Amino acid sequence: MTPGTNVLSLKNIHKAFGGVVAIQDFSLDLQAGEIVALVGDNGAGKSTLIKIVSGVYTPTSGEIRLDGEAATFSDASSARSNGIEVVYQDLALADQQPVYMNMFLGRELTKPPFGLLDKARMRREAQGLVDELDVRIPSAASTISDLSGGQRQGIAIARATHWASKLILLDEPTAALGVAETARVEEQIINLKQKNLAILIISHSLDQVFRLSDRICVLRRGEQIGIRETASTDKNEIVSMITGVS
Ligand SMILES: Nc1ncnc2c1ncn2[C@@H]1O[C@H](COP(=O)(O)OP(=O)(O)OP(=O)(O)O)[C@@H](O)[C@H]1O
Ligand SMILES: [Mg+2]
Repeated sequence: MTPGTNVLSLKNIHKAFGGVVAIQDFSLDLQAGEIVALVGDNGAGKSTLIKIVSGVYTPTSGEIRLDGEAATFSDASSARSNGIEVVYQDLALADQQPVYMNMFLGRELTKPPFGLLDKARMRREAQGLVDELDVRIPSAASTISDLSGGQRQGIAIARATHWASKLILLDEPTAALGVAETARVEEQIINLKQKNLAILIISHSLDQVFRLSDRICVLRRGEQIGIRETASTDKNEIVSMITGVS
């Protein structure tokens, strides 16, 4: 992927849940090697937008293009097979399964001749991955429901950063993490940018937004207030765009 090419293109996206308009007339082009931060108060429509891109919700109207081609994903796994990985705010891990099965969810390794699950290899590879990313868990064989909130978030991020090849959507990826873990996740995000992935990140931390993003897109009650180059705006401007108070 060449930097500067449009990976994701959203045009005039609308989404209503019954009478509630969650997103109205949202448009954004996201390029390879670019980090765009999506900010706004609670209920602004940020998670809804990510779920529209990843196929969890169908937009009421509007157009989604991936690499210039019209795209509609019927579910998260079809988004995944198109190189899109998502870390959801509400995580979406299989709680009763071990870490290694979660890391390979939908991409399970099997062994010939009968196609049985190759659990030993998945466990080995998952362990290597969590070690490499320094996710501190007892082992790759631990069951998700036995892990802390922060550890679960670490697994979800490790899985997404490992498999993403085109676009990664992160919904408050560091909300449950400590200071050191947050710093490591931010490094991973910068690595993905250097690998020319397109990155859309939701964060309530303006410090984090200013550390990571190239552009900042502000939503207020479903309305797209504006997009700014991070280098040519400041927190005051972004806060007044978020709140509507200048
Ligand atoms: N499945 C749903 N059914 C009905 N209404 C919904 C649904 N999902 C979201 N909404 C509504 O859409 C609006 C936007 O919600 P969304 O979860 O996108 O907000 P958000 O910006 O992610 O907020 P937060 O920062 O609190 O996570 C809210 O008014 C919410 O109540
Ligand atoms: Mg949300």
